[in-house]
Formats: sequence, structure tokens, C-alpha cells
Amino acid sequence: MKLIFLGPPGAGKGTLAGLVGKQHKIPQISTGDIFREAVKKQTELGLKVKSIMERGYLVPDELTINLVKERLSREDARKGFILDGFPRTIPQADALNSFQVINAVINFQINDDIVIRRLSGRRTCRSCGAIYHIENRPPKTEGICDNCGGELYVRDDDRVDSIKKRIEVYKNQTEPLIQYYREKYLLKNVDASVSVEHSIEEMNRILWT
Ligand code: AP5
Repeated sequence: MKLIFLGPPGAGKGTLAGLVGKQHKIPQISTGDIFREAVKKQTELGLKVKSIMERGYLVPDELTINLVKERLSREDARKGFILDGFPRTIPQADALNSFQVINAVINFQINDDIVIRRLSGRRTCRSCGAIYHIENRPPKTEGICDNCGGELYVRDDDRVDSIKKRIEVYKNQTEPLIQYYREKYLLKNVDASVSVEHSIEEMNRILWT
């Protein structure tokens, strides 16, 4: 199954892609994670995207498209994948069409108030990228990752000004993709304001039954 997870920042795309990917043995490909790793390692790519990401803007299309094209050409993505956070603009979606056939696009529906609460309480593992929330999905020990014992931190773009910018950028540049994929009969709406377990149940019913 070749899937796109679409939705505003904080909708739960990363959390759900991680769990569903494991369940169905397909890789989760998160452009945000790839960029964050590059920033952490201070690679050439990381130095280019650091301040763009911190301010909540999108990385240029050409750079992002080339990166995804290369990632999808690897063996583990041959039979299926979950694209988490890509495409995010119409040019990215057009480019993806030219090199991949997608089976479905999951559109996670959620309102801004919940998104802001989720992002302000998010904690991410510095080592393995696991995602927590101080109230909704807390780790067993405060500040420590359950999976690998790594340190939990607040993402640079989870500051209030950056969250507001990301929501604005989503509405202007990414939301048009809902209509784009609806016209291609690929769009499946899933309620993202409910528990993780409920969203997964709904997705499994839509996609795998
Ligand atoms: P990216 O990392 O993709 O960020 P995003 O789309 O803004 O999404 P988030 O990671 O913030 O949220 P999410 O939906 O994954 O939610 P999560 O599961 O973490 O991108 C970051 C930046 O990289 C961009 O701003 C841009 O600069 C750049 N970039 C990336 N892709 C790009 C592209 N294609 N083109 C150009 N630039 C690109 O959950 C959030 C919180 O809620 C967590 O604390 C979680 O524990 C909690 N939670 C999740 N689900 C639930 C639930 N059901 N109930 C209660 N709490 C929940």
C-alpha cells in the first residue's frame, strides 16, 4: 500500500504513521524527520534548511522533491510506504505523480485549538525520534524516551510564533491538496481529534478491509 498522510501540523501524522507502518510492515517516510536529522548532523542540507524550519516556512520544492525521489527509489519502499509530510504543495504533488502511483491519501481532520494544545505539549526523542505528549501520551519517566532511554526535547518549531506560522502556511499552501486528491478519487477523511487507537481503527477499516 502506497499512502500519503495529509493534515495540519500536530494532527498526529507522525504518531500514526509510525504505528501503522510497523503494523503493516511498510516504512514511514517523514520529510520533517529527514530534515531534522540533517540539521542535527549539520550536513550541507541541514545548514540550508535550519532557519527555514525554525521559522515555520516550507523548504523549497526542488530540494524536497529530489530528496523524496531518492528515498522512494530504495528497496524498502518498493512494495509500499507512508509519506508523512509530503507532498505539501501542488508542485510537490505534481512531481510525485510523475514517479509514483499512490493508492490512497488519508486526510486527518482536526481543529486549530486541538492542534495548538498538541504541539505545545509535544516532546520528541533526540535519539530515535519517538513522539510523546506531556499530558496525552506521557513517557513512563519524565524527560526520558521509553524506547531507547534518549533525552526528550521540545522541537525548535514548537514555539507559539512558529506554530502559528506553520498553521498559516498549511492553510495557504497545503490545504489545496485536499481538493487536488479529492478530484483524483484518492482522498479518505479520518477524524484525528479522537484517540490514536480510534484513528487507527478507522484507517484500518477504510484501507485494509
Ligand atoms: P513536519 O515534521 O512534517 O511537521 P508538521 O507537518 O508540522 O507535523 P508535525 O510533525 O508538527 O505534527 P504531526 O502531525 O506529525 O503530529 P505528531 O504525531 O507529532 O515538518 C517540519 C518542517 O519541515 C516544516 O515546517 C517544513 O519547514 C519542513 N518540511 C517537512 N516536509 C516538507 C515538505 N514536504 N516540503 C517543504 N518543507 C517541508 O503529534 C503532535 C502531538 O500530539 C504529539 O505530542 C503527540 O503525542 C500528540 N498526539 C498525536 N495524536 C494524538 C491523539 N490522537 N490524541 C492525543 N494526542 C495526540
